[in-house]
Amino acid sequence: MTQQATIDQTKAEAFVGKVLADTTGMTVTLMAHLGDRLGIFKELAANGPATSDQLAGRAGINERYAREWLSAMACAGYLEYDTSSSRFTLPAEHTPVLAQEYGPFFFGGTHQMLVGMLGVLDKVERAFRDGGGVPQSAYHDHFWCGLERFTGAWFENLLVDAWIPAVPDVQAKLQNGVAVANVCSVADVGCGWGRALIKLAQTYPNSRYVGYDIFEPTIAEAAANSEKAGVSDRVSFKHLDVVEGLPEQYDVITTFDVIHDMVNPRGALRAIRQALKPDGTYLLLEINCSDKLEENFGPIGALFYSVSVLYCMSTSLAENGEGLGTCGLPPSKVRELCEEAGFGSVRQLPLENPFNILYEIKP
Ligand SMILES: C[S@@+](CC[C@H](N)C(=O)[O-])C[C@H]1O[C@@H](n2cnc3c(N)ncnc32)[C@H](O)[C@@H]1O
Repeated sequence: MTQQATIDQTKAEAFVGKVLADTTGMTVTLMAHLGDRLGIFKELAANGPATSDQLAGRAGINERYAREWLSAMACAGYLEYDTSSSRFTLPAEHTPVLAQEYGPFFFGGTHQMLVGMLGVLDKVERAFRDGGGVPQSAYHDHFWCGLERFTGAWFENLLVDAWIPAVPDVQAKLQNGVAVANVCSVADVGCGWGRALIKLAQTYPNSRYVGYDIFEPTIAEAAANSEKAGVSDRVSFKHLDVVEGLPEQYDVITTFDVIHDMVNPRGALRAIRQALKPDGTYLLLEINCSDKLEENFGPIGALFYSVSVLYCMSTSLAENGEGLGTCGLPPSKVRELCEEAGFGSVRQLPLENPFNILYEIKP
């Protein structure tokens, strides 16, 4: 009996449909990124429906390109098209997703980050064959800028509204300072472009903040961002590999989406443990995933493992690191590694978030 005779035709056709949708998804994402880059979604959100001619004039782009792009976005259902007026509309329901910078549903940063990964595909392919990985320095600026816009939405919408209130003693320290020193000291390890600390410094101006990052170009961006936000009197940023040890003791240490990427996550957790004051708190934000592959099945799991190949695992392996990968720190592994690093308690905070888990960790 041939294999052809035994296959389930309905299943085969459904799978063709799925792959078509995924393939289209990639092209639509590229078009959405162009729309973000050219400011077209924000233009349509601000000034309303437009024909391709009107949009070209308003956005300062070529009409022929505007027309083709608008057609792609209308076919994809991102824009609506009115046949009688030939005008394209960004529906109000789509605005938060495509045009609301740092909003809770904004995808522009995610799209930019993914586009920023495309340039390393050849290096990733080579690593599949020869081992090794892709150094952080190989990534286009779009990756770093997209990452900042992507995680910036967490810090703008969740950090001080949901995450800090979930740890009342940390909130009190940030608000009122701590005994003796009178001021709460906070270190954010793997601070990236600094937006988490900037948000904390804006909300709790009496505390003092320092961000550390191993990737030197992020430090200049973070410093410029804090200057622009007017908080550089209480926030500073330093180039440092945390594994070498933190220079001071802190009341609060944070890592947001950092440990699973690291070359030496165990060494980093040990360094954080040593730098935490005896009554301090370590807030660890990690990926919401399971240690069982089958429990990660679905679109979010597919995104996580793909991003792992395209960045998280591969940048760690580039430096002969542990290469945990995006789904490498599920709750069971967080507990194991924190215990190994000498922490006394690990508590998963009760926040419903399909992407992340926040842990309160104590010495
Ligand atoms: C995925 S990014 C997250 C950045 C930032 N926390 C955010 O949420 O936007 C991880 C960051 O950790 C930094 N990092 C990785 N290993 C580090 C180490 N050993 N010491 C300090 N920073 C490190 C990377 O350079 C990168 O900026």
